[in-house]
Amino acid sequence: MSTRTPLIYSPKVLEIFRNPKNLGAMQDASVVSQAGSPACGDVIRIYLKIEDGKILDASFESYGCAANIAAASILTEMVKGKTLKEAWMISWEEVAEELGGLPAIKYHCSILAVGGLKRAIRKYIDETRRERPDWLPVDLSKEERQALEEEELIEKMYKKHGRAP
Ligand code: FES
Repeated sequence: MSTRTPLIYSPKVLEIFRNPKNLGAMQDASVVSQAGSPACGDVIRIYLKIEDGKILDASFESYGCAANIAAASILTEMVKGKTLKEAWMISWEEVAEELGGLPAIKYHCSILAVGGLKRAIRKYIDETRRERPDWLPVDLSKEERQALEEEELIEKMYKKHGRAP
């Protein structure tokens, strides 16, 4: 018998995990981004359809856990109809709150989802505009930074041990 204690997820996380919205690749996306490392299996891809600075549609693919799927699903719902600036302002804490909370060990699942979104917005602006809008910082947001740190750590562990931590 397993001695592991099951994680306590909110009813909303469980409900969304069982019935995720906006799951799947988007063929006509304006931009696609990825966060996480395929090496350990926690990877998220965000697809955005953008027109006139507004997010018309959003979808995701996740190779993460239940919390990551729920975070990505609710995040793609939250950004639809928002301007790029409004979507940029969404933090991983807001996503976790929308989900009715996450176990502390699962915070990174929400961070990966929001990191993927912010990468997509930054990439879209880099590719389509000449000037950076004043709301987009030159420095990485905390979510982008943390996603990057995780990817680098996993890569290092892989090189050292031939596997993820
Ligand atoms: Fe890594 Fe959830 S995405 S544990």
